[in-house]
Amino acid sequence: MNKAVEEYNFFDPEVIESPFDFYRAAREEAPVYRLPDTDIYFVSRYDDVREALKRTDDFSNNILEKLNVPLKNPEAEAVYAGGWPVADTLLTLDPPRHRVYRSLLNKVFSQKRVDSMQGYMAEIVNELINDWINDGEVDLLNRFCVPFPLHVIADQLGVPRTDLELFKFWSDCFASRLSGFADADKELEDAHAIVSFQRYFMDKVDQLRESPEDTIISDLAHARIDENRLLHPEELLSIIQQLLVAGNETSRATIAGGVLNLIENSNECKRLRSDLSLIPNAVEEILRLETPSCGLWRLVSRDTELAGVQIPEGAMLMVRFASANRDEAVFQQPDKMNVCRHNAGENLAFGRGVHFCLGAQLARKELEVAFTALLARTGNWRLTEGKNNLRHWPNMILRGLEELHIQFDKVQ
Ligand code: HEM
Repeated sequence: MNKAVEEYNFFDPEVIESPFDFYRAAREEAPVYRLPDTDIYFVSRYDDVREALKRTDDFSNNILEKLNVPLKNPEAEAVYAGGWPVADTLLTLDPPRHRVYRSLLNKVFSQKRVDSMQGYMAEIVNELINDWINDGEVDLLNRFCVPFPLHVIADQLGVPRTDLELFKFWSDCFASRLSGFADADKELEDAHAIVSFQRYFMDKVDQLRESPEDTIISDLAHARIDENRLLHPEELLSIIQQLLVAGNETSRATIAGGVLNLIENSNECKRLRSDLSLIPNAVEEILRLETPSCGLWRLVSRDTELAGVQIPEGAMLMVRFASANRDEAVFQQPDKMNVCRHNAGENLAFGRGVHFCLGAQLARKELEVAFTALLARTGNWRLTEGKNNLRHWPNMILRGLEELHIQFDKVQ
């Protein structure tokens, strides 16, 4: 029997692992649900999520101070003190200031630029596949889903291939810091990693200010805002950090989750293989089902209401994209995969409104290129027995598989 919404504890790692019954209960019983003993309001329906994203005067992205829970490990605090403080730039700013930073980056991620990257992306993907195509079995997460988006964003940020491992480690440490589940030792490791990341990129910015290159980071190093000033280190680091985390963990999770969905729904996989022109729609369906950026915070900036629920100033909203994407009022049979779903593209995996994902076009292109090559070059996907726990990261705002080992037949 289905449980009532109050019987779930959102912070329980098992609920985070298998959240869909909780989401359904929340949508049915309390679409704007105050989590017991907290000042967090959990928004689970599609329409309410969209409305919350639109009302930037009521629901602010300026959340860093509120979320800054003291670290468990004082040594980690000391390490951070040796780096740069984090400035509010894109994700954590509201209009009108948000626009100043957003407009710097809009051009860089334009559809035209992304379209021109298709061939370059296909080359990366095919090189990765060449490495294991004759093996019949692969750790797909670590030998494809992780390195592909990492290569793309590292190239965009002008990081040499020799530093990719380091780059991945930093990205993981940022995700761990955001997870809310790091223990004291992990906090210290994350702090050291994040401060080394800061030093690495500030050295790079200094070099690029001397001799510019044709990369995003070089453009940022020379960008001017306000009274024609260069960006401060805190601003540059905040932007680079967001590009790093937002561009890696999410795309990797979507590729891995998509492959798993296609293995578990072999008829959908067959449909896709027989007509590769369905891939763009299948990508939307995968984004809907996986929603790797599963929920984000908003700070309530004045007393207000949402869906008839009174919400006081200072409370937090948990805007749950992953629940909105399974709202039965919008998506029929929402838990089923349907690569031909007519409105798959209405998913909210990239958010909506002023903070709509800056990398959405880039990510869509990555996903299309990845699934096209995987489907064309490998067939008969199976999970490798005994090697998959099928669990996800313990993380409240990002969702992704911890491992994915598959067997396959070589096609070409
Ligand atoms: C499947 C892949 C991705 C998903 C699901 C995703 C999801 C999201 C979501 C939900 C937001 C909205 C945040 C909010 O409303 O507060 C967002 C914003 C953002 N994303 Fe993505 N993202 C993906 C890939 C990327 C990539 C590849 C990049 C860049 C390389 C990127 C960069 C950003 C940035 C910079 C923002 C902040 C935009 C702003 O605040 O104006 N994302 N993303």
